Order: sequence, then C-alpha cells, then structure tokens
Amino acid sequence: MSTFWSLWIIILTTTNLVLLLWVLLANRKVAVVGEENKDVKTTGHEYDGIEEYDNPLPRWWFYMFLLTFIFAVGYLIIYPGYGSYEGLKFKDSPAWTSVGELRGDQAKAEQVYAETYGVYSKMPIEEVARNPDALKMGFRLFSNNCAVCHGADGGGNPGFPNLTDKDWLYGGTADKIHETIVSGRKAAMPAWGSIMGEEGVVDVTEYVLQLSGSEHDAAKAEAGAKLFAANCVACHAADGKGNQLVGAPNLTDNIWLYGGEPATIRQTVRDGRNGVMPAQQELLKEDRIHLLAAYVYSLSLEESN
Ligand code: HEC
Ligand code: HEC
Repeated sequence: MSTFWSLWIIILTTTNLVLLLWVLLANRKVAVVGEENKDVKTTGHEYDGIEEYDNPLPRWWFYMFLLTFIFAVGYLIIYPGYGSYEGLKFKDSPAWTSVGELRGDQAKAEQVYAETYGVYSKMPIEEVARNPDALKMGFRLFSNNCAVCHGADGGGNPGFPNLTDKDWLYGGTADKIHETIVSGRKAAMPAWGSIMGEEGVVDVTEYVLQLSGSEHDAAKAEAGAKLFAANCVACHAADGKGNQLVGAPNLTDNIWLYGGEPATIRQTVRDGRNGVMPAQQELLKEDRIHLLAAYVYSLSLEESN
C-alpha cells in the first residue's frame, strides 16, 4: 500500500472516530426529566398533542456506545486495519493476516488429508484399485477434478476419452495412467485438408471407415488406402491400430474419440485434432494423483468383471 493511501485511511478512520465520539459526548445530558419535574423540557416536537421529552440516552445505551469506541481502538491495535500498520505482533508469531489464517487452516486440513491419503500412497496402484475405501475417495477426487471433461462416470465425451473401456490412447497400465495424470498429454493429429485436398480427405475417410468395419465406398477406400500408407502409418501404424507413444488412436475398432460418422472423420482428417489432457502435478498433490490413478485403473477393471 502506498503511503498516500495509508495516510488516507488513517486520517479517515481517526476523523470518523473522533467526530462520532464528540457527537456522543457533546449531546450528553445528565438530568432526566419526567412528568413529576416542573419545568418539563421537550424537544418542541408536537404531534396530535403528543410531545417528546428531551431526555438523554439511557445510561446503558450511552456506555455501550462508549464500549464500541474502546472496541474499535483495541481492534485497530491488534489487527491490521489502520493504514499500513500491520497489527500487534506477539512474541514469536507474526502479525495476524487473513492469508496467514487461511494458510494455517489449510496446513491443518492438509495434515488430516495427508493421514487419510497417506495410507494408500505406499501401496501399489493396482492394489489401491481394489480397495473400496480408497475408491470412494478416488471417486470424490474424480468428481471434483476430472468429471467436467471425462463425465461423472468417466465415460467420456466427444474429444474426451472414455476411461472405463479397455481402449487406451496412451496406455492403460497403472504406470501409464499415473504418467498421463501427472504430466498431461498433448495430441497432435495434423491437418490434411490443404495437403491432400477434399477428394483425398474423402478417400482416406472411406478407408478409415473400412478399417473399423463400417459401411464404406470400396473404390474410394482403395484410393484412400494408398494415401493412408503414405501419410498416416507413421502414427496410426500400418495396420491402423495406432501408437500409444504419440496417442494415435486405434482406427480399427469402433471406439471413437471424436466420432465415427463420415462427416466427423472427414473433419478430423481435414482440420486435424489437438486434444489436451492438462497436467495435474501443479494442481494436485502426489497422494491424490496416486488415488486418482487407482480410481481410473479400477474403472476398466470393473468392465472385465
Ligand atoms: C503425427 C502423427 C499422426 C499422423 C501422421 C496422423 N495422425 Fe491421425 N491422429 C493422431 C493423433 C495423436 C490423434 C488423436 C488426436 C487427439 O487425441 O486429439 C489422431 C486422431 C485421428 C482420428 C480420430 C480418431 C477418433 O477416435 O476420433 C482419425 C480418424 C485419424 N487420426 C485419421 C488419420 C488419418 C486418415 C491420417 C493420415 C491422413 C492421420 N490420422 C495421420 C496422430 C496422427
Ligand atoms: C480440461 C479437460 C480435462 C480434464 C479436467 C481432465 N482431462 Fe483427462 N484428458 C482430457 C483429454 C482431452 C484427453 C485426451 C488427450 C488426447 O486427445 O490425446 C485426456 C486423457 C486422459 C487420459 C488418457 C486416456 C487414454 O486413453 O490413454 C487419462 C487416464 C485421463 N485423461 C485422466 C484424467 C484424470 C484422472 C483427470 C482428473 C485429475 C483428468 N483426466 C482431467 C481432458 C481432460
């Protein structure tokens, strides 16, 4: 805070307090007048014959008012609030700040979490994946951190892979899942529209449809096969089954990340795709990632049961 604003606040606060105190004291009347009093003083207000006595504030009220001043001064001494004054510092502890209080609460919470999560941190992911209590926690972590993209049940959305099946872009071992969550993934499917033209896009799409056993135009697919061999096998492999090192999906199954409609495949091939799985290492602590990896691992276990 600059000195100017600090002084500004100090002057405003002080002026307000002093002014209010003055108003309170200056208007203080001691004598209580009542009906038995001969020279009854009224405020001069009269309404339908009803007049208002000019009585002072009740004593308890007056003292309570005074107390609020004492409280205000005490508060401004102990807590930050008087310009850039930081508040009272006790022996070892620094002055109170709201951030400090938050950090303190967080540290306390973290200690509790660390104990709860810590139990599982040392267990292998495959084992945690079979522990119902751990999975309950994993589910909650998943709901908070992953469900927006992957769906509440991990079933995925167009562009966001289904985590409950056995079809993996990057690999479904505990290690690979853990690696995906920690470091994230960036997929790079190049755009082919300007390279092979719309006709090429249509042909190669028919070939992709053929690979997955979908309805296709055989003549176009034959032309597409050549384009595929020349342009796509580096990532999707000669047999079209993909490559988990670059996250190139298997094109021979009928599981689609973006969609298996001819128009969607053409769009994928024409414009490319760049799916991003955000790295969680900066966002989540390792003990949580461990639980999440176990939870994701368990999702595809259930299917095989
Ligand atoms: C440099 C590697 C690379 C090359 C070359 C490549 N792809 Fe891909 N392809 C990928 C990656 C990676 C993805 C996944 C994109 C994502 O996750 O966002 C992908 C996704 C796709 C998809 C979407 C699959 C789905 O499940 O929705 C199709 C279809 C596809 N590629 C077809 C092709 C065709 C046809 C070619 C050749 C013309 C080709 N790819 C060349 C890397 C490549
Ligand atoms: C902002 C959206 C988003 C969030 C949030 C997100 N993901 Fe993802 N995730 C993706 C996308 C997109 C991909 C696919 C990347 C690609 O196209 O190659 C992915 C891929 C994955 C994969 C790899 C799947 C495979 O087939 O190999 C796993 C595992 C995964 N995410 C787990 C998680 C977990 C666990 C969380 C929560 C901590 C999470 N994701 C949060 C978008 C997200």
